[in-house]
Amino acid sequence: MLFVDPRAGGRGVARALLTAVQADARARGIVELRTLASRSARPVFERLGFTVVAERPDNTVRGVVVPNTEMRCRL
Ligand SMILES: CC(C)(COP(=O)(O)OP(=O)(O)OC[C@H]1O[C@@H](n2cnc3c(N)ncnc32)[C@H](O)[C@@H]1OP(=O)(O)O)[C@@H](O)C(=O)NCCC(=O)NCCS
Repeated sequence: MLFVDPRAGGRGVARALLTAVQADARARGIVELRTLASRSARPVFERLGFTVVAERPDNTVRGVVVPNTEMRCRL
């Protein structure tokens, strides 16, 4: 999951976090990352090289439908 405090939004925090995760994963020999991205986080993952694996329109959290998208990034 990826969250940035709204007071710090739009300043590259999410990019810095994801770039660090990608670099660490590469260093460990990991070849692919996967995530379940919310609607609001999806554009950020796309900017960082993630592509859609599957839409999950019926994803449910504690009885509430919260659509998300399964995404992957080849490293
Ligand atoms: C989405 C979220 C993580 C973005 O964090 P942020 O620190 O503001 O993002 P950044 O400033 O690092 O932006 C990263 C890139 O994504 C782009 N971006 C951010 N929001 C975007 C949007 N809504 N649409 C298109 N592009 C967007 C930025 O332009 C930036 O691209 P660039 O670096 O190439 O210019 C933050 O708003 C958030 O926590 N939202 C709620 C997240 C949520 O619902 N999480 C559920 C679990 S996944």
